[in-house]
Formats: sequence, structure tokens, C-alpha cells
Amino acid sequence: MEVFNNINKMQEWSLQTRKQGNSIGLVPTMGYLHDGHLSLVEEAKKKCDKVVVSIFVNPLQFGQGEDFEEYPRDLSRDSSLLEAAGVDAIFAPSAREMYPTGFSSSVEVSGEITEKMCGASRPGHFKGVTTVCTKLFHACLPDMAFFGQKDAQQLLIIKKMVRELNFPLKIVPVPIVREEDGLALSSRNVYLEGVQRQEALVLIKALKQAEEQIRGGERDITRLIGAIKATIATSPQAKIDYVEILNGDNLSGLERIEGRVLIALAVKFGKTRLIDNLLVEV
Ligand code: PAJ
Repeated sequence: MEVFNNINKMQEWSLQTRKQGNSIGLVPTMGYLHDGHLSLVEEAKKKCDKVVVSIFVNPLQFGQGEDFEEYPRDLSRDSSLLEAAGVDAIFAPSAREMYPTGFSSSVEVSGEITEKMCGASRPGHFKGVTTVCTKLFHACLPDMAFFGQKDAQQLLIIKKMVRELNFPLKIVPVPIVREEDGLALSSRNVYLEGVQRQEALVLIKALKQAEEQIRGGERDITRLIGAIKATIATSPQAKIDYVEILNGDNLSGLERIEGRVLIALAVKFGKTRLIDNLLVEV
């Protein structure tokens, strides 16, 4: 397995690999890998000849007072996991390599897709994500890039950017991987303290209840959101950031439940902010 820290070296490898007739699958990550990340790797291995995983904790997508400094990092453990998974190359640049002094470019998707949900609570976050993904795509030159449904809004924004700016690659969505008890895997789960881990199960409970209500014929969004909030409120530690039910393809608002809907939420347990979602098709 190759490990690149340098953008030019990464690009050379990718150009060479493509010239030899191989397709490249890219899995962008911030490291501290878990089975969610590894399911993206598996999917990439199925669909592409060569797989590159990028590991970069992107300072641009963290706001003031967020957890950039504390974000968990363990490159040697990540490397062993990726080597065992049969990955061909890791791209792990430093912040200096990605953003040298004076760096002042950005790529931004504007409009409601970036303004609601996490865009409202984390101003500038998605601009950081689209900028770094543009750089990762240019460094790794993938035919396909794999993104988790866990970050549903990120996935839709990246898809829109790739479509509108004509990036020559395909974005492949991958379903959410969960713990046996339903908690969505996240690098941030290690922050959960004491009872918070158990209380975090209200998220999947509330999402599943809403899904059942929809399957039972409920079409009223205000009532559904009310029920989700009531379930989350049974956890004393939970502080709701948002609960939204939106069009699952473009995050536009809905009058009532129809088509492919995304039920999405962000909730804080102490200092740990968790997101989760469910897609329901009616
Ligand atoms: P990170 O949080 O490390 O996630 C990397 C990828 O793994 C994302 O596409 C995310 O949706 C996916 N993922 C995380 N948890 C998952 C789970 N439980 N099941 C399935 N997929 C899961 O998302 C980022 O990094 C960054 O914003 C990045 C795209 C790398 C840009 O910096």
C-alpha cells in the first residue's frame, strides 16, 4: 500500500494508474476509521480497480469553538485497517500541504441545500467541505467517489457540486452502518460519556417511530416532528439542534409526506453533537 503526503506525488500515481487502464475509487475521510468508513472502502473495491482513501482532518470545515483540536486521530491504526482491507493508496496530506500560507480559494454551493440543517447550525461548514473535496478530487483523480448516507446533506451537496461544475466522476452513496443496538457509527461516538451512550439510542428510536407512523398513513409533518421531539425529550441529556423532514433529493420543504423523504436530526449529548437520518419512500 502506498502512502502519499504530497499532492503532486498523489496526482502522478493516479495519472499513472489511470494510464494503465485502471479505474480509481476514492473514499474521502477524516480518519479515526470505523466500520462505516470500511463499508465505503468495500463498496469502492467492488466497483473500482484501485482504491484510494484520503485521511485529512480539514480545518476549513470546523467553526470557531468546534472540535478541530480534539477531533480523534490515529494514523497508524487507520493505516493497518486500510492495509488489511486491501486499499491501494492512502492520501494523508498535512494542513500546510493542502492550505499553504496565502491560500484563498474556495468552492461553494449556495442556496437552501447548504443553508438548512447543519448549514444553519455550522456556518461555513459546507463551504469547507466542498473546497476540500474539490482539492481531494483533483489530487486523487477518481472515477468514482464514495460518500456515506450518514451525512445525507453532505452527500446531496457534493452530488450537486459535481453535477453543476462538471467534475468527471461519479458520486456513489453508501447506506448507514449502525451498531447492533442502532446507534449510527461515528468517529465522534468516542466522546460520549457514561449514560450518554445509552441515551443516544433515542435518535434511532425516534426515527424508526416516525417511519412506522408514515407507513401507518401519517402524512402530517408537524405532527411527525412533534412526536420525534417528544421521544428525544425522554432523554434528560439530549438537546435538540434540529429535526427536519424534507425532500430526500434536494432538501426542499414539503407540505406533506410524499415521494422520497429524509427525516434528519442533530442532537447534542453534553458536548457531543450527533447526527442521524432515515430515508423513507412512500
Ligand atoms: P468523515 O466524518 O470521516 O466521514 C467520511 C465518510 O464516511 C463520509 O462519507 C461519511 O458519510 C461516511 N460515514 C461516516 N459514518 C458512517 C456510517 N456510520 N455509515 C456509513 N458511512 C459513514 O465526512 C467527512 O469525514 C468529511 O466531511 C469529508 C467528506 C472527508 C471532507 O472533509
